[in-house]
Amino acid sequence: MGGTKPLAVVTGASSGIGATFARTLAARGYDLALVARRQDRLQQLADELSGKFHINVTTLKADLTDEANLQAVENLLAGAANLELLVNNAGFGSLGRFAETPIESQDAMHRLHVLATMRLTHAALRNLTARDTGAIINVASVAAYVPRPGSTSYYATKAWMNCFTECIYLELKSSGSRVHIQSLCPGFTYTEFHDVLGVKRDFISGGWWMPAEDVVNASLQALGKNQLFVVPGWRYKLLVGLIRLMPRGVVHFALTRGPASLRRERQRR
Ligand SMILES: NC(=O)c1ccc[n+]([C@@H]2O[C@H](COP(=O)([O-])OP(=O)(O)OC[C@H]3O[C@@H](n4cnc5c(N)ncnc54)[C@H](OP(=O)(O)O)[C@@H]3O)[C@@H](O)[C@H]2O)c1
Repeated sequence: MGGTKPLAVVTGASSGIGATFARTLAARGYDLALVARRQDRLQQLADELSGKFHINVTTLKADLTDEANLQAVENLLAGAANLELLVNNAGFGSLGRFAETPIESQDAMHRLHVLATMRLTHAALRNLTARDTGAIINVASVAAYVPRPGSTSYYATKAWMNCFTECIYLELKSSGSRVHIQSLCPGFTYTEFHDVLGVKRDFISGGWWMPAEDVVNASLQALGKNQLFVVPGWRYKLLVGLIRLMPRGVVHFALTRGPASLRRERQRR
């Protein structure tokens, strides 16, 4: 695939944060390759954005937990002469204690958040570093900063994402590369994430919910400054700052004996 405009590849572009990245990048003049399982949604978005912004938008129906599908996206990233940005955004949540939850969904989450992110980052990075240009955004979560019982694989895979991204950031910095990499760590964001999870949004007050547009704008603004970790919203910046300062024992106490955890336990019984 070649073209005159820079190309952005966005995974999980059929809804939420990924679709918002696609809309924002289209308005900034990027050509797009949109990846997700729901082809009808991708095509609808592609038609809308190519018509409105006169850009090239291709769609790739792919389940990134599937080896052959993953390889197809790797090939796209490796062969795109105008690749400028990869957004590893596809993801989903989980609920339930680790041993009580079917292994299949835990396995799929690790394939998607860890293996797909690792493989697609590798394919994109080889292309970008060879041309010494471009960037990768890995969409993690504020969940990366704290362990939480009842959602083990989600918190663990997002923490992995932060560490993975930080290591590559250091490799790029120490080699003097102009390629940027970012770990985007949103808090609660209005998307389909909690609908897929089957959770109503009223478990936490409205002030904690952010529009996907604010998350994406914070990410793209920080990308120009080569900021490694991006936590959108002042509440979450404060929360992450406090969590990092607290002794781990205090965090563990709050998560196992605090009012929220006791309420959760009561609901389980
Ligand atoms: N919303 C929040 O509160 C929040 C907070 C922190 C972090 N995040 C992170 O933000 C990212 C985007 O989530 P979102 O909030 O925008 O949720 P969303 O609206 O549910 O979007 C998730 C996207 O991931 C795609 N996806 C899921 N499984 C996939 C698979 N196996 N292969 C390919 N694509 C797959 C979905 O598309 P298809 O179903 O069409 O495949 C969809 O486009 C996730 O990584 C999530 O962990 C969200």
